[in-house]
Amino acid sequence: MNCPITLLIFSILCISKLSNSSRLKPHPLPILPLPTSQQLQWQLGSMAMFLHFGPNTFTDSEWGTGKANPSVFNPTHLNATQWVQIAKDSGFSRVILTAKHHDGFCLWPSEYTDYSVKSSPFRGGDGDVVAELAAAAAEAGIGLGLYLSPWDRHDPCYGNTLEYNEFYLSQMTELLTKYGEIKEVWLDGAKGEGEKDMEYFFDTWFSLIHQLQPGAVIFSDAGPDVRWIGDEAGHAGSTCWSLFNRTNAKIGDTDPLYSQQGDGFGQDWVPAECDVSIRPGWFWHALESPKPALQLLDIYYNSVGRNCLFLLNVPPNSSGLISEQDIKVLEEFRGLKKSIFSNNLARKALVNSSSIRGSQFGPNNVLVQGLDKYWAPEENDKTWELYLAFKDSVSFNVLEIREPIHMGQRVASFHLETHNTVSGEWERVVSSTTIGNKRLLRFPKVQSRSLKLVVDKARADPLISYLGIYMDKFSVSSANTTTKITITRTLKEEQQLHDL
Ligand SMILES: *[C@@H]1O[C@H](CO)[C@@H](O)[C@H](O)[C@H]1NC(C)=O
Ligand SMILES: *[C@@H]1O[C@H](CO)[C@@H](O)[C@H](O)[C@H]1NC(C)=O
Ligand SMILES: *[C@@H]1O[C@H](CO)[C@@H](O)[C@H](O)[C@H]1NC(C)=O
Ligand SMILES: *[C@@H]1O[C@H](CO)[C@@H](O)[C@H](O)[C@H]1NC(C)=O
Ligand SMILES: *[C@@H]1O[C@H](CO)[C@@H](O)[C@H](O)[C@H]1NC(C)=O
Repeated sequence: MNCPITLLIFSILCISKLSNSSRLKPHPLPILPLPTSQQLQWQLGSMAMFLHFGPNTFTDSEWGTGKANPSVFNPTHLNATQWVQIAKDSGFSRVILTAKHHDGFCLWPSEYTDYSVKSSPFRGGDGDVVAELAAAAAEAGIGLGLYLSPWDRHDPCYGNTLEYNEFYLSQMTELLTKYGEIKEVWLDGAKGEGEKDMEYFFDTWFSLIHQLQPGAVIFSDAGPDVRWIGDEAGHAGSTCWSLFNRTNAKIGDTDPLYSQQGDGFGQDWVPAECDVSIRPGWFWHALESPKPALQLLDIYYNSVGRNCLFLLNVPPNSSGLISEQDIKVLEEFRGLKKSIFSNNLARKALVNSSSIRGSQFGPNNVLVQGLDKYWAPEENDKTWELYLAFKDSVSFNVLEIREPIHMGQRVASFHLETHNTVSGEWERVVSSTTIGNKRLLRFPKVQSRSLKLVVDKARADPLISYLGIYMDKFSVSSANTTTKITITRTLKEEQQLHDL
Protein backbone atom coordinates (compact mmCIF):
# COMPACT_ATOMS: atom_id res chain seq x y z
CA MET A 1 0.00 0.00 0.00
CA ASN A 2 2.82 2.36 0.92
CA CYS A 3 4.83 1.66 -2.13
CA PRO A 4 2.78 3.45 -4.87
CA ILE A 5 2.48 6.57 -2.70
CA THR A 6 6.25 6.73 -2.20
CA LEU A 7 6.66 6.31 -5.92
CA LEU A 8 4.17 9.07 -6.61
CA ILE A 9 5.90 11.48 -4.22
CA PHE A 10 9.23 10.57 -5.73
CA SER A 11 7.93 11.26 -9.25
CA ILE A 12 6.53 14.62 -8.23
CA LEU A 13 9.86 15.52 -6.65
CA CYS A 14 11.65 14.48 -9.80
CA ILE A 15 9.41 16.47 -12.12
CA SER A 16 9.64 19.60 -10.01
CA LYS A 17 13.38 19.15 -9.85
CA LEU A 18 13.49 18.89 -13.67
CA SER A 19 11.47 21.99 -14.29
CA ASN A 20 13.60 23.99 -11.87
CA SER A 21 16.79 22.63 -13.32
CA SER A 22 19.57 24.82 -14.66
CA ARG A 23 20.04 22.54 -17.65
CA LEU A 24 20.65 24.52 -20.82
CA LYS A 25 18.27 24.29 -23.72
CA PRO A 26 20.30 22.46 -26.40
CA HIS A 27 21.33 23.97 -29.70
CA PRO A 28 18.91 23.39 -32.56
CA LEU A 29 19.78 20.69 -35.06
CA PRO A 30 22.13 21.81 -37.84
CA ILE A 31 20.52 21.66 -41.26
CA LEU A 32 22.33 19.78 -44.04
CA PRO A 33 24.51 20.27 -45.99
CA LEU A 34 27.20 21.52 -43.60
CA PRO A 35 30.69 22.88 -44.27
CA THR A 36 33.71 20.72 -43.48
CA SER A 37 36.21 22.18 -41.01
CA GLN A 38 38.50 23.07 -43.96
CA GLN A 39 35.68 24.94 -45.70
CA LEU A 40 34.82 26.78 -42.48
CA GLN A 41 38.42 27.83 -41.96
CA TRP A 42 38.66 28.92 -45.60
CA GLN A 43 35.51 31.04 -45.39
CA LEU A 44 36.31 32.68 -42.07
CA GLY A 45 39.57 33.86 -43.70
CA SER A 46 37.49 36.21 -45.96
CA MET A 47 40.29 37.19 -48.35
CA ALA A 48 43.20 35.47 -50.13
CA MET A 49 45.98 36.95 -52.27
CA PHE A 50 46.73 35.41 -55.65
CA LEU A 51 50.28 35.71 -56.99
CA HIS A 52 50.60 35.26 -60.75
CA PHE A 53 54.31 35.02 -61.44
CA GLY A 54 56.51 33.29 -64.03
CA PRO A 55 58.15 33.86 -67.43
CA ASN A 56 55.10 35.93 -68.50
CA THR A 57 56.19 38.53 -65.94
CA PHE A 58 59.34 39.05 -68.02
CA THR A 59 57.91 38.73 -71.53
CA ASP A 60 54.92 41.07 -71.11
CA SER A 61 52.43 38.30 -71.84
CA GLU A 62 49.35 36.81 -70.21
CA TRP A 63 49.21 33.35 -71.76
CA GLY A 64 52.79 32.22 -72.42
CA THR A 65 53.27 29.95 -75.41
CA GLY A 66 55.51 27.55 -73.49
CA LYS A 67 58.37 28.46 -75.83
CA ALA A 68 59.96 31.26 -73.78
CA ASN A 69 63.59 30.50 -72.97
CA PRO A 70 63.96 29.72 -69.23
CA SER A 71 66.77 32.27 -69.16
CA VAL A 72 64.15 35.06 -69.19
CA PHE A 73 63.13 34.13 -65.64
CA ASN A 74 65.48 36.32 -63.60
CA PRO A 75 63.86 38.05 -60.61
CA THR A 76 67.03 39.49 -59.10
CA HIS A 77 65.38 40.93 -55.95
CA LEU A 78 62.79 38.24 -55.26
CA ASN A 79 61.65 38.44 -51.65
CA ALA A 80 58.74 36.17 -50.72
CA THR A 81 58.78 37.68 -47.23
CA GLN A 82 57.76 41.00 -48.79
CA TRP A 83 54.81 39.33 -50.61
CA VAL A 84 53.64 37.60 -47.46
CA GLN A 85 54.12 40.66 -45.26
CA ILE A 86 52.00 42.76 -47.61
CA ALA A 87 49.33 40.06 -47.76
CA LYS A 88 49.21 39.78 -43.99
CA ASP A 89 49.22 43.53 -43.34
CA SER A 90 46.40 44.00 -45.86
CA GLY A 91 44.17 41.41 -44.18
CA PHE A 92 44.62 38.37 -46.43
CA SER A 93 44.48 34.99 -44.69
CA ARG A 94 46.31 33.01 -47.36
CA VAL A 95 48.48 33.40 -50.46
CA ILE A 96 48.06 31.30 -53.61
CA LEU A 97 50.93 31.02 -56.10
CA THR A 98 50.86 29.98 -59.76
CA ALA A 99 53.40 27.19 -59.26
CA LYS A 100 52.86 26.37 -62.95
CA HIS A 101 50.79 28.46 -65.37
CA HIS A 102 49.64 27.44 -68.87
CA ASP A 103 53.17 27.94 -70.26
CA GLY A 104 54.31 24.87 -68.31
CA PHE A 105 57.22 26.61 -66.55
CA CYS A 106 57.63 25.32 -62.98
CA LEU A 107 58.53 27.74 -60.18
CA TRP A 108 59.96 24.77 -58.28
CA PRO A 109 62.70 22.36 -59.48
CA SER A 110 60.39 19.56 -60.62
CA GLU A 111 62.06 16.20 -61.29
CA TYR A 112 59.71 15.60 -64.22
CA THR A 113 60.76 18.47 -66.49
CA ASP A 114 63.71 20.76 -67.13
CA TYR A 115 61.38 23.61 -67.98
CA SER A 116 61.68 25.19 -64.54
CA VAL A 117 63.66 27.45 -62.23
CA LYS A 118 66.57 25.02 -62.41
CA SER A 119 67.20 26.05 -66.05
CA SER A 120 66.99 29.75 -65.19
CA PRO A 121 69.50 32.26 -63.82
CA PHE A 122 67.37 32.67 -60.66
CA ARG A 123 69.65 31.88 -57.65
CA GLY A 124 72.17 30.39 -60.12
CA GLY A 125 69.74 27.55 -61.02
CA ASP A 126 69.38 26.50 -57.37
CA GLY A 127 66.26 28.56 -56.66
CA ASP A 128 62.82 27.35 -55.61
CA VAL A 129 60.09 30.02 -55.46
CA VAL A 130 57.56 27.60 -53.95
CA ALA A 131 59.97 26.76 -51.12
CA GLU A 132 60.73 30.42 -50.42
CA LEU A 133 57.04 31.31 -50.34
CA ALA A 134 56.19 28.28 -48.18
CA ALA A 135 58.87 29.28 -45.64
CA ALA A 136 57.75 32.92 -45.58
CA ALA A 137 54.07 31.99 -45.19
CA ALA A 138 54.81 29.51 -42.39
CA GLU A 139 56.93 32.13 -40.62
CA ALA A 140 54.13 34.73 -40.84
CA GLY A 141 51.42 32.21 -39.93
CA ILE A 142 49.32 32.60 -43.07
CA GLY A 143 48.05 29.78 -45.28
CA LEU A 144 49.62 28.63 -48.54
CA GLY A 145 47.76 27.61 -51.67
CA LEU A 146 49.11 26.44 -55.04
CA TYR A 147 47.85 26.59 -58.60
CA LEU A 148 49.05 23.88 -60.97
CA SER A 149 47.66 24.60 -64.41
CA PRO A 150 46.07 21.58 -66.08
CA TRP A 151 46.76 23.12 -69.50
CA ASP A 152 50.49 22.81 -70.26
CA ARG A 153 51.67 24.38 -73.52
CA HIS A 154 55.26 23.23 -73.09
CA ASP A 155 55.41 19.56 -72.23
CA PRO A 156 55.32 17.24 -75.26
CA CYS A 157 53.18 14.68 -73.43
CA TYR A 158 50.29 17.16 -73.30
CA GLY A 159 47.62 15.70 -75.57
CA ASN A 160 48.33 12.09 -74.61
CA THR A 161 45.69 11.51 -71.98
CA LEU A 162 47.32 8.75 -69.92
CA GLU A 163 50.86 10.12 -70.11
CA TYR A 164 49.82 13.65 -69.28
CA ASN A 165 47.65 12.65 -66.31
CA GLU A 166 50.58 10.65 -64.91
CA PHE A 167 52.90 13.62 -65.44
CA TYR A 168 50.44 16.07 -63.88
CA LEU A 169 49.83 13.94 -60.80
CA SER A 170 53.56 13.39 -60.30
CA GLN A 171 54.06 17.15 -60.28
CA MET A 172 51.09 17.58 -57.96
CA THR A 173 52.60 15.00 -55.62
CA GLU A 174 55.88 16.95 -55.50
CA LEU A 175 53.99 20.11 -54.58
CA LEU A 176 51.87 18.43 -51.94
CA THR A 177 54.62 16.46 -50.22
CA LYS A 178 57.64 18.78 -50.15
CA TYR A 179 56.36 22.11 -48.91
CA GLY A 180 54.54 21.50 -45.65
CA GLU A 181 50.87 22.20 -45.17
CA ILE A 182 48.93 23.32 -48.24
CA LYS A 183 45.57 24.99 -47.54
CA GLU A 184 44.19 25.28 -51.04
CA VAL A 185 44.74 23.67 -54.43
CA TRP A 186 43.50 25.86 -57.25
CA LEU A 187 42.51 24.36 -60.61
CA ASP A 188 40.80 25.62 -63.68
CA GLY A 189 39.58 23.90 -66.80
CA ALA A 190 41.27 26.43 -69.09
CA LYS A 191 42.35 24.97 -72.40
CA GLY A 192 43.04 27.18 -75.41
CA GLU A 193 40.84 27.18 -78.50
CA GLY A 194 41.93 24.47 -80.89
CA GLU A 195 44.23 22.90 -78.27
CA LYS A 196 44.89 19.17 -78.49
CA ASP A 197 41.91 17.22 -77.27
CA MET A 198 42.60 15.33 -74.10
CA GLU A 199 40.87 14.36 -70.91
CA TYR A 200 41.78 15.44 -67.40
CA PHE A 201 41.13 12.74 -64.76
CA PHE A 202 39.62 15.16 -62.26
CA ASP A 203 38.19 12.51 -59.94
CA THR A 204 41.60 10.87 -59.57
CA TRP A 205 43.26 14.24 -59.05
CA PHE A 206 40.79 15.26 -56.34
CA SER A 207 41.13 11.97 -54.47
CA LEU A 208 44.90 12.13 -54.48
CA ILE A 209 44.95 15.79 -53.40
CA HIS A 210 42.67 15.06 -50.45
CA GLN A 211 44.78 12.06 -49.51
CA LEU A 212 48.05 14.02 -49.57
CA GLN A 213 46.73 17.22 -47.99
CA PRO A 214 43.61 16.49 -45.92
CA GLY A 215 43.56 20.12 -44.72
CA ALA A 216 43.32 21.57 -48.23
CA VAL A 217 40.23 22.79 -50.04
CA ILE A 218 40.14 22.17 -53.80
CA PHE A 219 38.93 25.03 -55.98
CA SER A 220 37.54 24.52 -59.48
CA ASP A 221 34.51 25.49 -61.58
CA ALA A 222 32.62 22.72 -59.83
CA GLY A 223 34.31 22.30 -56.44
CA PRO A 224 34.56 19.74 -54.92
CA ASP A 225 35.20 22.07 -51.96
CA VAL A 226 35.09 25.61 -53.32
CA ARG A 227 33.47 26.77 -56.55
CA TRP A 228 34.42 29.46 -59.04
CA ILE A 229 31.95 32.36 -58.95
CA GLY A 230 31.67 32.24 -62.74
CA ASP A 231 33.20 35.60 -63.70
CA GLU A 232 36.54 37.32 -63.25
CA ALA A 233 34.97 40.56 -61.98
CA GLY A 234 34.71 39.48 -58.36
CA HIS A 235 30.94 39.85 -58.22
CA ALA A 236 28.76 37.20 -56.67
CA GLY A 237 25.04 36.97 -57.29
CA SER A 238 22.92 39.09 -54.96
CA THR A 239 21.46 35.74 -53.95
CA CYS A 240 24.37 33.48 -53.09
CA TRP A 241 23.93 30.07 -51.50
CA SER A 242 26.84 27.92 -50.39
CA LEU A 243 24.48 25.08 -51.29
CA PHE A 244 25.11 23.62 -54.71
CA ASN A 245 24.78 20.38 -56.67
CA ARG A 246 28.22 19.27 -57.81
CA THR A 247 26.57 17.02 -60.34
CA ASN A 248 24.96 20.07 -62.01
CA ALA A 249 28.33 21.68 -62.74
CA LYS A 250 30.90 20.73 -65.32
CA ILE A 251 34.51 21.90 -65.13
CA GLY A 252 35.32 24.12 -68.10
CA ASP A 253 31.66 24.52 -69.01
CA THR A 254 29.83 26.22 -66.16
CA ASP A 255 26.47 27.94 -66.12
CA PRO A 256 27.45 31.41 -64.83
CA LEU A 257 24.09 32.02 -63.18
CA TYR A 258 24.18 28.72 -61.28
CA SER A 259 27.74 29.48 -60.12
CA GLN A 260 26.87 33.00 -59.01
CA GLN A 261 23.72 32.11 -57.10
CA GLY A 262 24.32 28.59 -55.88
CA ASP A 263 21.24 26.46 -55.27
CA GLY A 264 18.84 26.86 -52.34
CA PHE A 265 17.92 23.20 -52.88
CA GLY A 266 21.49 22.01 -53.40
CA GLN A 267 22.69 18.97 -51.51
CA ASP A 268 26.42 19.79 -51.38
CA TRP A 269 28.20 22.56 -49.48
CA VAL A 270 30.35 24.28 -52.13
CA PRO A 271 30.80 27.99 -51.32
CA ALA A 272 32.14 30.39 -53.95
CA GLU A 273 35.44 32.21 -54.41
CA CYS A 274 35.63 35.46 -56.40
CA ASP A 275 38.89 35.88 -58.29
CA VAL A 276 39.85 39.23 -59.71
CA SER A 277 43.12 40.98 -60.48
CA ILE A 278 44.20 44.28 -58.97
CA ARG A 279 45.46 45.17 -62.47
CA PRO A 280 43.90 44.65 -65.92
CA GLY A 281 46.11 41.57 -66.49
CA TRP A 282 46.85 38.62 -64.23
CA PHE A 283 50.62 38.98 -64.72
CA TRP A 284 52.60 42.15 -64.07
CA HIS A 285 53.09 44.49 -67.04
CA ALA A 286 55.19 47.65 -66.80
CA LEU A 287 52.50 49.77 -68.47
CA GLU A 288 49.53 48.66 -66.37
CA SER A 289 48.33 50.26 -63.15
CA PRO A 290 46.30 48.92 -60.26
CA LYS A 291 42.59 49.60 -59.79
CA PRO A 292 41.75 52.34 -57.29
CA ALA A 293 41.12 51.31 -53.68
CA LEU A 294 37.44 52.33 -53.94
CA GLN A 295 36.98 49.79 -56.69
CA LEU A 296 38.50 47.09 -54.46
CA LEU A 297 36.09 48.17 -51.72
CA ASP A 298 33.21 47.76 -54.15
CA ILE A 299 34.40 44.24 -55.02
CA TYR A 300 34.73 43.49 -51.29
CA TYR A 301 31.05 44.39 -50.77
CA ASN A 302 30.07 42.17 -53.69
CA SER A 303 32.18 39.16 -52.75
CA VAL A 304 32.85 38.93 -49.00
CA GLY A 305 29.59 40.84 -48.50
CA ARG A 306 27.76 38.18 -50.52
CA ASN A 307 28.92 35.09 -48.69
CA CYS A 308 32.08 34.51 -50.77
CA LEU A 309 35.85 34.61 -50.45
CA PHE A 310 37.61 37.50 -52.20
CA LEU A 311 40.69 36.24 -54.08
CA LEU A 312 42.64 39.29 -55.19
CA ASN A 313 45.54 38.83 -57.59
CA VAL A 314 48.54 41.06 -56.84
CA PRO A 315 51.26 40.11 -59.34
CA PRO A 316 54.92 40.53 -58.33
CA ASN A 317 56.98 42.57 -60.80
CA SER A 318 60.05 41.49 -62.78
CA SER A 319 62.34 42.39 -59.88
CA GLY A 320 60.44 39.74 -57.87
CA LEU A 321 58.71 42.28 -55.64
CA ILE A 322 55.20 43.66 -55.30
CA SER A 323 55.23 47.13 -56.86
CA GLU A 324 54.94 50.37 -54.88
CA GLN A 325 51.71 51.36 -56.69
CA ASP A 326 49.98 48.13 -55.66
CA ILE A 327 51.23 48.44 -52.09
CA LYS A 328 49.80 51.94 -51.90
CA VAL A 329 46.38 50.81 -53.18
CA LEU A 330 46.31 47.90 -50.72
CA GLU A 331 47.12 50.25 -47.85
CA GLU A 332 44.27 52.54 -48.89
CA PHE A 333 41.90 49.59 -49.23
CA ARG A 334 42.80 48.42 -45.75
CA GLY A 335 42.30 51.96 -44.42
CA LEU A 336 38.85 52.21 -46.03
CA LYS A 337 37.71 48.90 -44.57
CA LYS A 338 39.04 49.81 -41.17
CA SER A 339 37.42 53.20 -41.08
CA ILE A 340 34.03 51.80 -42.13
CA PHE A 341 33.84 48.50 -40.28
CA SER A 342 35.70 49.14 -37.04
CA ASN A 343 32.83 51.13 -35.59
CA ASN A 344 29.67 49.05 -35.30
CA LEU A 345 27.04 51.63 -34.34
CA ALA A 346 24.70 48.83 -33.25
CA ARG A 347 26.86 48.25 -30.18
CA LYS A 348 25.10 51.14 -28.45
CA ALA A 349 21.67 49.60 -28.98
CA LEU A 350 19.34 47.79 -26.62
CA VAL A 351 18.55 44.59 -28.49
CA ASN A 352 15.38 42.56 -28.20
CA SER A 353 13.69 39.88 -30.25
CA SER A 354 10.30 38.38 -31.06
CA SER A 355 11.27 35.32 -28.98
CA ILE A 356 14.25 33.34 -27.77
CA ARG A 357 14.94 29.65 -27.81
CA GLY A 358 16.55 29.68 -24.36
CA SER A 359 18.57 31.98 -22.18
CA GLN A 360 21.86 31.35 -23.96
CA PHE A 361 20.32 32.22 -27.37
CA GLY A 362 19.37 35.78 -26.45
CA PRO A 363 19.38 38.66 -28.94
CA ASN A 364 22.44 40.33 -27.37
CA ASN A 365 24.52 37.56 -28.94
CA VAL A 366 24.26 39.38 -32.28
CA LEU A 367 26.61 42.05 -30.95
CA VAL A 368 29.27 39.48 -30.06
CA GLN A 369 31.71 38.35 -32.78
CA GLY A 370 32.12 34.60 -33.25
CA LEU A 371 30.09 31.70 -34.59
CA ASP A 372 29.29 30.02 -31.30
CA LYS A 373 27.13 32.86 -29.93
CA TYR A 374 23.96 33.50 -31.89
CA TRP A 375 20.36 34.53 -31.50
CA ALA A 376 17.84 31.72 -31.99
CA PRO A 377 14.05 32.18 -31.88
CA GLU A 378 11.67 29.85 -30.09
CA GLU A 379 10.84 26.73 -32.10
CA ASN A 380 7.84 26.85 -34.44
CA ASP A 381 7.53 30.63 -34.27
CA LYS A 382 6.01 32.31 -37.29
CA THR A 383 7.60 35.71 -36.69
CA TRP A 384 11.33 36.19 -36.59
CA GLU A 385 12.32 39.73 -35.59
CA LEU A 386 15.20 41.52 -33.91
CA TYR A 387 14.68 45.03 -32.54
CA LEU A 388 17.36 47.62 -31.89
CA ALA A 389 16.57 50.65 -29.78
CA PHE A 390 18.93 53.61 -29.42
CA LYS A 391 18.98 56.45 -26.90
CA ASP A 392 19.96 58.90 -29.63
CA SER A 393 19.21 58.45 -33.29
CA VAL A 394 21.91 56.87 -35.47
CA SER A 395 22.78 57.53 -39.12
CA PHE A 396 24.03 54.67 -41.23
CA ASN A 397 24.06 53.35 -44.77
CA VAL A 398 25.48 49.82 -44.45
CA LEU A 399 24.00 46.71 -42.84
CA GLU A 400 26.01 43.62 -41.97
CA ILE A 401 24.36 40.31 -41.06
CA ARG A 402 25.99 36.97 -40.41
CA GLU A 403 24.66 33.44 -39.93
CA PRO A 404 26.48 30.80 -37.85
CA ILE A 405 27.24 28.76 -40.97
CA HIS A 406 28.52 25.74 -39.04
CA MET A 407 24.77 25.14 -38.43
CA GLY A 408 24.00 25.30 -42.17
CA GLN A 409 22.81 28.18 -44.34
CA ARG A 410 19.19 29.00 -43.52
CA VAL A 411 17.91 32.47 -44.39
CA ALA A 412 16.30 32.85 -47.84
CA SER A 413 14.94 36.40 -47.44
CA PHE A 414 15.02 39.21 -44.92
CA HIS A 415 14.58 42.98 -44.68
CA LEU A 416 15.36 45.93 -42.46
CA GLU A 417 12.86 48.53 -41.24
CA THR A 418 13.27 51.77 -39.34
CA HIS A 419 10.65 53.42 -37.19
CA ASN A 420 9.52 56.82 -38.36
CA THR A 421 8.67 58.81 -35.19
CA VAL A 422 6.70 61.42 -37.16
CA SER A 423 4.32 59.06 -38.96
CA GLY A 424 4.56 56.33 -36.32
CA GLU A 425 5.06 53.80 -39.13
CA TRP A 426 7.74 51.19 -39.73
CA GLU A 427 9.42 51.85 -43.08
CA ARG A 428 11.36 49.38 -45.16
CA VAL A 429 14.99 50.39 -45.74
CA VAL A 430 16.31 47.43 -47.69
CA SER A 431 15.23 43.90 -48.62
CA SER A 432 17.42 41.03 -49.60
CA THR A 433 17.64 37.28 -49.96
CA THR A 434 20.50 35.13 -48.68
CA ILE A 435 22.93 35.87 -45.83
CA GLY A 436 25.40 33.01 -45.28
CA ASN A 437 28.71 33.79 -43.65
CA LYS A 438 28.40 37.53 -44.23
CA ARG A 439 25.96 39.83 -45.97
CA LEU A 440 26.76 43.50 -46.53
CA LEU A 441 24.09 45.79 -47.94
CA ARG A 442 24.46 49.42 -48.94
CA PHE A 443 21.58 51.90 -49.21
CA PRO A 444 21.05 55.65 -49.02
CA LYS A 445 21.70 57.01 -45.53
CA VAL A 446 18.94 56.54 -42.96
CA GLN A 447 18.58 58.05 -39.51
CA SER A 448 16.52 56.46 -36.75
CA ARG A 449 16.26 55.44 -33.10
CA SER A 450 14.51 52.11 -33.70
CA LEU A 451 15.35 49.37 -36.17
CA LYS A 452 13.78 46.04 -36.92
CA LEU A 453 15.42 43.17 -38.74
CA VAL A 454 12.81 40.77 -40.09
CA VAL A 455 13.57 37.32 -41.45
CA ASP A 456 10.83 36.59 -43.97
CA LYS A 457 11.81 33.13 -45.15
CA ALA A 458 14.24 30.47 -43.99
CA ARG A 459 14.97 26.77 -44.58
CA ALA A 460 14.79 26.20 -40.81
CA ASP A 461 14.61 28.40 -37.70
CA PRO A 462 16.87 31.32 -38.60
CA LEU A 463 20.00 31.85 -36.50
CA ILE A 464 21.79 35.21 -36.52
CA SER A 465 25.35 35.44 -35.22
CA TYR A 466 26.15 39.09 -35.93
CA LEU A 467 24.49 42.35 -36.82
CA GLY A 468 26.36 45.54 -37.68
CA ILE A 469 25.38 48.96 -38.93
CA TYR A 470 27.97 51.35 -40.30
CA MET A 471 28.46 54.68 -41.98
CA ASP A 472 30.38 54.37 -45.26
CA LYS A 473 31.34 57.91 -46.27
CA PHE A 474 33.37 56.73 -49.22
CA SER A 475 31.60 54.40 -51.56
CA VAL A 476 27.84 54.76 -51.46
CA SER A 477 27.42 57.83 -53.65
CA SER A 478 29.46 56.11 -56.34
CA ALA A 479 28.41 52.50 -55.68
CA ASN A 480 26.27 52.21 -58.79
CA THR A 481 28.81 53.70 -61.18
CA THR A 482 31.84 51.80 -59.87
CA THR A 483 29.98 48.54 -60.36
CA LYS A 484 29.45 49.40 -64.01
CA ILE A 485 33.10 50.31 -64.51
CA THR A 486 34.24 47.02 -63.02
CA ILE A 487 32.01 44.95 -65.22
CA THR A 488 32.85 46.80 -68.44
CA ARG A 489 36.55 46.58 -67.83
CA THR A 490 36.44 42.94 -67.04
CA LEU A 491 34.49 42.02 -70.12
CA LYS A 492 37.13 43.85 -72.13
CA GLU A 493 39.89 42.03 -70.27
CA GLU A 494 38.24 38.72 -71.00
CA GLN A 495 37.95 39.66 -74.65
CA GLN A 496 41.66 40.46 -74.73
CA LEU A 497 42.42 37.11 -73.17
CA HIS A 498 40.33 35.28 -75.70
CA ASP A 499 41.92 37.20 -78.56
CA LEU A 500 45.37 35.95 -77.59
C1 LIG B 1 62.42 41.13 -47.59
O1 LIG B 1 61.21 41.78 -47.21
C2 LIG B 1 61.07 41.92 -45.80
C3 LIG B 1 59.67 42.45 -45.54
O2 LIG B 1 59.41 43.56 -46.33
C4 LIG B 1 62.16 42.81 -45.28
O3 LIG B 1 62.04 42.96 -43.88
C5 LIG B 1 63.52 42.19 -45.62
O4 LIG B 1 64.55 43.07 -45.24
C6 LIG B 1 63.61 41.91 -47.10
N1 LIG B 1 64.82 41.14 -47.38
C7 LIG B 1 65.73 41.54 -48.23
C8 LIG B 1 66.88 40.63 -48.43
O5 LIG B 1 65.63 42.59 -48.85
C1 LIG C 1 19.82 19.81 -56.63
O1 LIG C 1 19.59 18.57 -56.01
C2 LIG C 1 18.38 18.49 -55.25
C3 LIG C 1 18.34 17.15 -54.57
O2 LIG C 1 18.50 16.13 -55.49
C4 LIG C 1 17.20 18.75 -56.16
O3 LIG C 1 16.01 18.76 -55.40
C5 LIG C 1 17.38 20.09 -56.85
O4 LIG C 1 16.34 20.31 -57.75
C6 LIG C 1 18.71 20.14 -57.58
N1 LIG C 1 18.88 21.45 -58.20
C7 LIG C 1 18.91 21.62 -59.51
C8 LIG C 1 19.07 23.04 -59.99
O5 LIG C 1 18.83 20.71 -60.29
C1 LIG D 1 59.29 46.24 -58.29
O1 LIG D 1 58.78 46.80 -57.06
C2 LIG D 1 59.77 47.36 -56.22
C3 LIG D 1 59.03 47.89 -55.00
O2 LIG D 1 58.62 46.88 -54.17
C4 LIG D 1 60.53 48.46 -56.92
O3 LIG D 1 61.57 48.91 -56.09
C5 LIG D 1 61.12 47.93 -58.22
O4 LIG D 1 61.71 48.99 -58.93
C6 LIG D 1 60.02 47.32 -59.07
N1 LIG D 1 60.60 46.72 -60.27
C7 LIG D 1 60.20 47.04 -61.48
C8 LIG D 1 60.86 46.36 -62.62
O5 LIG D 1 59.33 47.87 -61.68
C1 LIG E 1 11.32 42.03 -25.57
O1 LIG E 1 10.34 41.52 -26.42
C2 LIG E 1 9.40 40.68 -25.79
C3 LIG E 1 8.55 40.01 -26.84
O2 LIG E 1 8.22 40.88 -27.87
C4 LIG E 1 8.61 41.50 -24.79
O3 LIG E 1 7.68 40.69 -24.14
C5 LIG E 1 9.58 42.08 -23.79
O4 LIG E 1 8.90 42.94 -22.90
C6 LIG E 1 10.67 42.86 -24.48
N1 LIG E 1 11.67 43.21 -23.50
C7 LIG E 1 12.19 44.42 -23.45
C8 LIG E 1 13.23 44.63 -22.40
O5 LIG E 1 11.86 45.31 -24.21
C1 LIG F 1 21.55 52.62 -57.36
O1 LIG F 1 20.61 53.01 -58.33
C2 LIG F 1 19.27 52.66 -58.05
C3 LIG F 1 18.38 53.08 -59.21
O2 LIG F 1 19.07 53.08 -60.39
C4 LIG F 1 18.83 53.32 -56.75
O3 LIG F 1 17.52 52.94 -56.43
C5 LIG F 1 19.77 52.91 -55.63
O4 LIG F 1 19.43 53.60 -54.47
C6 LIG F 1 21.21 53.21 -56.00
N1 LIG F 1 22.07 52.66 -54.98
C7 LIG F 1 23.00 53.37 -54.35
C8 LIG F 1 23.77 52.64 -53.32
O5 LIG F 1 23.21 54.55 -54.60
